[in-house]
Amino acid sequence: MIWTTIALALLVVVGEADQSSMVPLSDIPRWCGKPYQKGFRNLPPHGVLHPPVASSDPMLFVQVKSRHSIYDSSEPTGECIVQASVSYTHGEPFNHTASIPLETLVFDIRVGDTDHLLLSATIDINARQQVFEFSFSALTPRLQPFPITLHGGPVGDSGHRNCTTNTELYYLPAKKSGSTVKIDNLRGGMLVANHNTNYTFEPFLPFGFYTSCSGYLNYSLANVLAYRDLGFNAVNPVCAFTDGDLEYLYDWLDEANLWYQYDMRGSYLNLSAVAEQIPLIEDRSAFLSWYTADEPDGWQHPLNATLSAYALLKEQDPYHPTGLVLNCDNYYFEQYSAGADYLMEDAYPIGINPIYSRPWDTICNETYGDCGCDSCVGGLQDISDRLDSYLDYQDWLGAWQKPIWAVLQAFSGEGYWDRDPTMKESWAMMLLSLNHGAKAIMSWLFPTTDPLSAAHAAFAKVATRAPVSSFLTSTQPTRIAPEGGSLLDVAYWGVEKQVMVGLSPFSYL
Ligand SMILES: *[C@@H]1O[C@H](CO)[C@@H](O)[C@H](O)[C@H]1NC(C)=O
Ligand SMILES: *[C@@H]1O[C@H](CO)[C@@H](O)[C@H](O)[C@H]1NC(C)=O
Ligand SMILES: *[C@@H]1O[C@H](CO)[C@@H](O)[C@H](O)[C@H]1NC(C)=O
Ligand SMILES: *[C@@H]1O[C@H](CO)[C@@H](O)[C@H](O)[C@H]1NC(C)=O
Ligand SMILES: *[C@@H]1O[C@H](CO)[C@@H](O)[C@H](O)[C@H]1NC(C)=O
Ligand SMILES: *[C@@H]1O[C@H](CO)[C@@H](O)[C@H](O)[C@H]1NC(C)=O
Ligand SMILES: *[C@@H]1O[C@H](CO)[C@@H](O)[C@H](O)[C@H]1NC(C)=O
Repeated sequence: MIWTTIALALLVVVGEADQSSMVPLSDIPRWCGKPYQKGFRNLPPHGVLHPPVASSDPMLFVQVKSRHSIYDSSEPTGECIVQASVSYTHGEPFNHTASIPLETLVFDIRVGDTDHLLLSATIDINARQQVFEFSFSALTPRLQPFPITLHGGPVGDSGHRNCTTNTELYYLPAKKSGSTVKIDNLRGGMLVANHNTNYTFEPFLPFGFYTSCSGYLNYSLANVLAYRDLGFNAVNPVCAFTDGDLEYLYDWLDEANLWYQYDMRGSYLNLSAVAEQIPLIEDRSAFLSWYTADEPDGWQHPLNATLSAYALLKEQDPYHPTGLVLNCDNYYFEQYSAGADYLMEDAYPIGINPIYSRPWDTICNETYGDCGCDSCVGGLQDISDRLDSYLDYQDWLGAWQKPIWAVLQAFSGEGYWDRDPTMKESWAMMLLSLNHGAKAIMSWLFPTTDPLSAAHAAFAKVATRAPVSSFLTSTQPTRIAPEGGSLLDVAYWGVEKQVMVGLSPFSYL
């Protein structure tokens, strides 16, 4: 009897030594939804977005979007993009009489609050997105968006019910100070206006680095100019007014006309702190965009955090877009991505061990571990795969595609990354990004090594200038799958009678 008692007591002690049984499930530290610390038990992944389940009946899926994220009173006309398709995953069910071919959609687009007719038109169902122009003459510019309603249905099919689709249209009073920045919802690029453009909108492809303030930018205007003269037109200073009085630094950036993403990673969860920073930045001349969350998914910030900050920024400053970077492959994508106008990805695949986490001494698999690059294989294709995934997720959600930017690896260390990318790997990652639709390159982190700095500078001088920049900003790439294998990634940009081809290897090994 006594031996049984001792054995039971031992079992209890052994049981207590297992950390996983002492820690409530909700407190198990996770990265991208996965436990990553030794001893914590494996859990089913959560926050995973799945493709929508196809319905057995076809649906009519009609989308409408303002061509530009904002217009201002310097512009007499605007455009809407409309697309109609028969879908088994999105849209409204309709009663289709098989005898009538479903070919054309007839529709009206009206301003919701006045019922003012912006335009009436027809489009082919299942055709590409089509652009329709309208006049702003009946609208008074204002800071709040106008609600817009598309109403219409298939021509000649009397059994159907008309469908209604809503969107928003910004028609702002034009500014004659600071900057105004918009997103082209057709081509995914940006347009910027400030005193250097005489307040007319010019296409812009941001290319640069996240850059250290205390280790570089804050030293001198000369440092800012040296960075710009390497060929970079954009920067994300990794600092903010919450770090102290850095007004001089943003003055230098304005003076250099170096467009910046203003980084609130350390304060965006605190809406009072965000509200305090808006007036300090919103009227600056080289101010490109608000940057709120830095890897909110990796840090598992509250799911409503990005949207809360976004709503405040939109209300206070509709003149600039908001971006954020996602770190995970597939973790609450819908919730975190909701709080941005463009999405950045930062898969850093070079020099990782994708199946063993050195910092945490655990294995990495689909449901467990932090190997520095979520669900990566440790190759160049992780970059293009991540971009493709984010485009797919937006499709699955039936959402209008937000532009995607690439944050590329220009560092090593931190326990996960054995080595820097080579110059050739850097160029391949840039090309893969552009081939897969990225509309900006913003690498981590400047100052970097001389070879990586030189690699970025050389590419920036090509990508941000005509003719390459015109191809990149005036159309989306079309990918081609080369026959006989996956060694090369190929895409082209066609503009009028010219074509630019992007060719990148997937590996140098
Ligand atoms: C991942 O690793 C964990 C921890 O070793 C294990 O419990 C789990 O079954 C693995 N998952 C998969 C999908 O192999
Ligand atoms: C559907 O909307 C179109 C465009 O506004 C209109 O011409 C048509 O009469 C409507 N059809 C029905 C059945 O309401
Ligand atoms: C389809 O037609 C039926 C019968 O005419 C009608 O009751 C129903 O509301 C229609 N459904 C749609 C989605 O239009
Ligand atoms: C802006 O306008 C001024 C005066 O009209 C002109 O000299 C200058 O070239 C213009 N700059 C640009 C970038 O269009
Ligand atoms: C830049 O930051 C560093 C580190 O915080 C500091 O030592 C230095 O004085 C700063 N330079 C300027 C010009 O403020
Ligand atoms: C949030 O920001 C405000 C304004 O800067 C500050 O007073 C407050 O202490 C911050 N709250 C937290 C929890 O940091
Ligand atoms: C966000 O969610 C938290 C709980 O996770 C809640 O306390 C807070 O009120 C929410 N904020 C908004 C703006 O909905």
